[in-house]
Amino acid sequence: MRHLMSPLDFTTGELDKLFDLANDMEKHMERYAHICEGKKLATCFYEPSTRTRLSFEAAMLNLGGQVIGFSDAASSSASKGESVSDTIRVISCYADICAMRHPKEGAPMVAAQRSSIPVINAGDGGHQHPTQTLTDLLTIRSLQGRLSGLTIGLCGDLKFGRTVHSLIHALSRYDDIHFIFISPEELRIPDYITDMLKAKGIPYEEVIRLEERIPSLDLLYMTRVQRERFFNEEDYVRLKDFYILDMAKLSLAREDMLVLHPLPRVNEISVEVDDDPRAVYFKQAQYGVYVRMALICTLLGLA
Ligand code: CP
Repeated sequence: MRHLMSPLDFTTGELDKLFDLANDMEKHMERYAHICEGKKLATCFYEPSTRTRLSFEAAMLNLGGQVIGFSDAASSSASKGESVSDTIRVISCYADICAMRHPKEGAPMVAAQRSSIPVINAGDGGHQHPTQTLTDLLTIRSLQGRLSGLTIGLCGDLKFGRTVHSLIHALSRYDDIHFIFISPEELRIPDYITDMLKAKGIPYEEVIRLEERIPSLDLLYMTRVQRERFFNEEDYVRLKDFYILDMAKLSLAREDMLVLHPLPRVNEISVEVDDDPRAVYFKQAQYGVYVRMALICTLLGLA
């Protein structure tokens, strides 16, 4: 039995297979419409979500399976003090696979250790968000045609953004990757990530102004300032609108640069950018369904 805690749990070869399957599912949805008949997915979300939970549920329904779960810790027995370990042992009696989001880093890993069904980390605190990373990689591979030879700008909250941390780890396994980290001083990328890049000899730069480096990028990955991870509201208010990608800034970018965002967006991308062909964040959300379909089938041993 296999779980997914980090995007590094799959080799790059396994990821290629997963993405090939996801692309095939995108083209031939009908071929997979019954593959999970009789199977149940449990979505155990102790933290709010729109995309991750609903795309997991859509993925399982597209595969002919069924879905159970909760979307809020307050409506589960966590509110009565039940541990994650006990909850997953019970969920294992009801479902065949579980996607779990939790505000505490490592909680899905604790669940995986006590589970008799595959557990997927659907985001744990500020740590990892592996299925968002699979979504991001599938989007890049499908729309940019490759995962190597890329200059990638990551902009915004690089300190608390778990999607950024997962994506950097995942991309650091591909050749000829160059990272540009664009953030205010207070939201810089954590040292453990830059230490990992230094150890692997992967080039990176840290800058504050988006305009300075946007012309050189193949991809711009925008992120929201993570209000829920700040210790005080004053700091959040001061930093929340530090970056706003508008048409004036986008006009400095190459015609083939892609703009990704894991969403939800707050103010960091003006809505006027949405109609630009380089803005692919809503397509990215759609790829999230295909990659989760492929992941569910793979972890259930059906593909
Ligand atoms: N991208 C992402 O994780 O969105 P949700 O928080 O809505 O699931």
